[in-house]
Formats: sequence, C-alpha cells, structure tokens
Amino acid sequence: MSGKRFLGGALALLAGSASAQDNNSTLPVNFGMVLFPSFQAFDVFGPLDALNVLSMSYPINLYLISSTLDPVSTAPRSAGMNPHNSNFSQALVPTHTFEDAPALDVLMVPGGLGTRAGDLDPTIAYIADAAGEAEYVLTVCTGSWLAARAGVLDGKNATSNKASWAGREGLGNGTNWIAHARWVEDGNVWTSSGISAGIDMTLTWMESVFGNDTATSIANKLE
Ligand SMILES: *[C@@H]1O[C@H](CO)[C@@H](O)[C@H](O)[C@H]1NC(C)=O
Ligand SMILES: *[C@@H]1O[C@H](CO)[C@@H](O)[C@H](O)[C@H]1NC(C)=O
Ligand SMILES: *[C@@H]1O[C@H](CO)[C@@H](O)[C@H](O)[C@H]1NC(C)=O
Ligand SMILES: *[C@@H]1O[C@H](CO)[C@@H](O)[C@H](O)[C@H]1NC(C)=O
Ligand SMILES: *[C@@H]1O[C@H](CO)[C@@H](O)[C@H](O)[C@H]1NC(C)=O
Ligand SMILES: *[C@@H]1O[C@H](CO)[C@@H](O)[C@H](O)[C@H]1NC(C)=O
Repeated sequence: MSGKRFLGGALALLAGSASAQDNNSTLPVNFGMVLFPSFQAFDVFGPLDALNVLSMSYPINLYLISSTLDPVSTAPRSAGMNPHNSNFSQALVPTHTFEDAPALDVLMVPGGLGTRAGDLDPTIAYIADAAGEAEYVLTVCTGSWLAARAGVLDGKNATSNKASWAGREGLGNGTNWIAHARWVEDGNVWTSSGISAGIDMTLTWMESVFGNDTATSIANKLE
C-alpha cells in the first residue's frame, strides 16, 4: 500500500462530510477497544494512534477490554494459522475485563483471524451491552462480523474486509452489506473495510465529531 493511498482517501473525504461539533461538553470522552486472541494489530493500532494524537488536544480516556486481564496476543491461535511455525507476535495488556469495564462513549471492535474462533460468546455479549450504552460504535475489518453477531448491525448499512467477504454471509438481521466501500457510516455505527481502512474511517469519524481542522491536522501529522 502506498502512503498516498493510505491517507489520501481520508483527506479527500474530509472535504465533503458532516459538520463539526462545537460544544466540547457533548464530545465523547471514554473510548474502549475490545481485545481477543489473534486480533489484527493494525486494526487496533491504526485507529488508536490517530486517537493518541487527538488525546493531546482533547481530554479523552482509553480502556483496553478483554475477557481477563492477561496479555492478549496477535499470535495465531492454531497451528493451521501458522504453517511456518513462526514466533512473531505482539501482546497488549488489558486495563479492564468485560465485567468491570466502565460505560463507554465510543466502542471500538477490531478484526483479525481471531474473529473466526469458537469461544467468542462472552466477547459478543459484551459488545451487545457496551454498544447499547455507547454513543458511537466503530469496527475495523472483520470486527463487523462480531458487531453483527451482537445485533449491532441489524437493519444497518455496513461493510467488512473484501478479502474475507464471504464470511459476513448470514450475519446481521437485515444488514445491508455494502461490497464497495472503504468504510460505511450508518447513524452512530461506523464499519470499515480491511486493516488499513480503519485509520481512514477513524479520521473521517473524527472529522464529523471533532471538526475538520482537528481531523485534518491529525491526518497531516500522521502522514
Ligand atoms: C476541511 O479542511 C480542508 C483543508 O483545510 C478544506 O479544504 C476543506 O474545505 C474542509 N472541509 C470542510 C467541510 O470544512
Ligand atoms: C475543545 O477543548 C479543547 C481543549 O480541551 C480545545 O483545544 C478545543 O479548541 C475546544 N474545541 C472547541 C470546538 O471548542
Ligand atoms: C452545550 O452543551 C450544554 C450542556 O450539554 C447545553 O446546555 C448547551 O445547550 C450546548 N450548547 C450548544 C450550542 O449546543
Ligand atoms: C518466542 O519468542 C519469545 C521472545 O523472544 C520467546 O520468549 C519465546 O520463548 C519464543 N517461543 C518459542 C516457542 O520459541
Ligand atoms: C429480524 O428483524 C425482523 C424485523 O425487525 C424481526 O421481525 C425478526 O424477528 C428478526 N429476526 C431475528 C432472528 O431476530
Ligand atoms: C444505506 O445504503 C443504501 C444503498 O445501499 C442507501 O440508499 C441508504 O441511504 C443508506 N442508509 C444510510 C442510513 O446511510
């Protein structure tokens, strides 16, 4: 992927979209990122790095939320996912569990090979609860499969990773899966295509919530 493609699409879209919030007291403060084993690193760190920069201009808080407080790794969960027996992964330490996470203004759900695992029912139950309270839900890549399984995408327009497009079949009740979109916004629910699309979606979401000047400045700093 070229740098131009990476952020250029977001900047082009920044030009046309929604109006800025001009009342700081209504801006989202508490952000939560859901973690599960074999999450996709950049689905998490792309959006978070844009928000790391935002945190220098606005008072915002991040919670990393998983089933336990044990480090959560990108490592493949099965030998089948790791045919060359590589030892190559990163782990993040959660700050909260599904039981003790605070109420969120923004719920973020990454994708990754771990979204295919069979033991995600507690994760999906948490997503359903947290999405019900949150002002915004943002998913990256196959994170939209988990949001769909949680009922968050019922009747909504949504998208997902095009390289794994078939995986969304049958997910969501009346979800309109949009096959050609880098990201899709439907009310307070934003879903992006694969991995790198998450940062473009995040910048455009930021533009609609925090304003064009803020989002443009952050996009320029990242680039
Ligand atoms: C957003 O900022 C860019 C760069 O300053 C500008 O070209 C564009 O017109 C702005 N868009 C809106 C909606 O204000
Ligand atoms: C909101 O508050 C931040 C500092 O907390 C300030 O930098 C920013 O300019 C304010 N934005 C608006 C639109 O008032
Ligand atoms: C700003 O937020 C406060 C508190 O929620 C509200 O009373 C006020 O009407 C808002 N102002 C604008 C311009 O939206
Ligand atoms: C994988 O690499 C880590 C970090 O160097 C090391 O601690 C661990 O023992 C390695 N695991 C295997 C199975 O080689
Ligand atoms: C799907 O949505 C429709 C319309 O809201 C509803 O009648 C139906 O019960 C839902 N089906 C399931 C399986 O939730
Ligand atoms: C959902 O997508 C359809 C096109 O497939 C569009 O007509 C409709 O306006 C979209 N709805 C929202 C809420 O964006």
